[in-house]
Amino acid sequence: EMSPEDRAFQDRIDAGEKIEPKDYMPEGYRKTLIRQIGQHAHSEIVGQLPEGNWITRAPTLERKANLLAKVQDEAGHGLYLYCAAETLGVSRDDLTEQLLSGKMKYSSIFNYPTLTWADMGAVGWLVDGAAIMNQVPLQRTSYGPYARAMVRICKEESFHQRQGFHIMMAMVNGTAEQKRMAQDALNRFWYPALMMFGPSDKDSVHSAQSMAWKIKINTNDELRQKFVDETVPQAEYLGLTIPDEALSWNEETGHYDFTEPDWSEFFDVIAGNGPCNTDRLNVRQKAWDEGAWVREAMVAHAEKKRARKLA
Ligand code: ACO
Repeated sequence: EMSPEDRAFQDRIDAGEKIEPKDYMPEGYRKTLIRQIGQHAHSEIVGQLPEGNWITRAPTLERKANLLAKVQDEAGHGLYLYCAAETLGVSRDDLTEQLLSGKMKYSSIFNYPTLTWADMGAVGWLVDGAAIMNQVPLQRTSYGPYARAMVRICKEESFHQRQGFHIMMAMVNGTAEQKRMAQDALNRFWYPALMMFGPSDKDSVHSAQSMAWKIKINTNDELRQKFVDETVPQAEYLGLTIPDEALSWNEETGHYDFTEPDWSEFFDVIAGNGPCNTDRLNVRQKAWDEGAWVREAMVAHAEKKRARKLA
């Protein structure tokens, strides 16, 4: 049975009120938010790596400027989200250490390699497209700081999605080889993009409680279906084929029927065994180690300032 505090809390949630940092919240609510916001922040930070890989090799100055801006936006998203998590009483250093030790996750999608320039198109179009589909409803999530961070993040994500689609447009209207590269990128990123929404509802351990707390607004399968429904016409517009022979419009449901991703691959990737997991974490570990002197210098500086104020 719920305690009176928890009952009052649930009543606030049910009434659509936002929960703010100093308000009462059940420990489970706090823990779930730290897990989700922390993982989300890590995803933004690790998510810089597959695209950062192509900044030096962008085909034109304009493409380079756009990609650079996009990757910088991801860093900014990571920082807002770490700040939102900090309001729950966990430090950014703590979260980073949990990422590096493998205790916390980041999105499965960033464990796949970006092999060609067309992947920059596919990532922007599909990965940022899937991210927006998941994040637009999160603007209405029950925790105030997370909801507010999502507003700005979603504006920037829609620019990212468009710059990706624009790259795809250029590729499909280019040479036959460029069109082939665009198709190949779609073939490799389609199922990993579908996996971003998380396991199917029957295997989603957190959905029911997270939805009761309005941390999550939709189930994983609802958002995945919405993404498929919106993306299929975009692929048709590009003249590309989604790599799913079972994909078809279902008159009765008003949705596309599609083949589920290979869930054993998903669980393998989130267990640390995807193609790039080791590499991604090594890069983050190196950045953390190389930044140690900056963190130490900042603490020393703050202490010196405090001592001067006392004197
Ligand atoms: N990648 C890695 N781990 C995942 C993924 C994924 N795509 N989907 C689910 N998981 C993990 C969950 O974290 C959970 O593991 P845990 O208990 O160790 O944390 C487990 O799989 C079971 O999944 P669910 O019970 O469905 O988990 P949850 O309710 O947290 O739903 C979801 C997962 C939909 C990703 C949710 O956390 C969410 O909406 N997060 C915010 C959005 C986000 O993180 N986006 C990042 C990618 S996009 C970008 O940043 C550019």
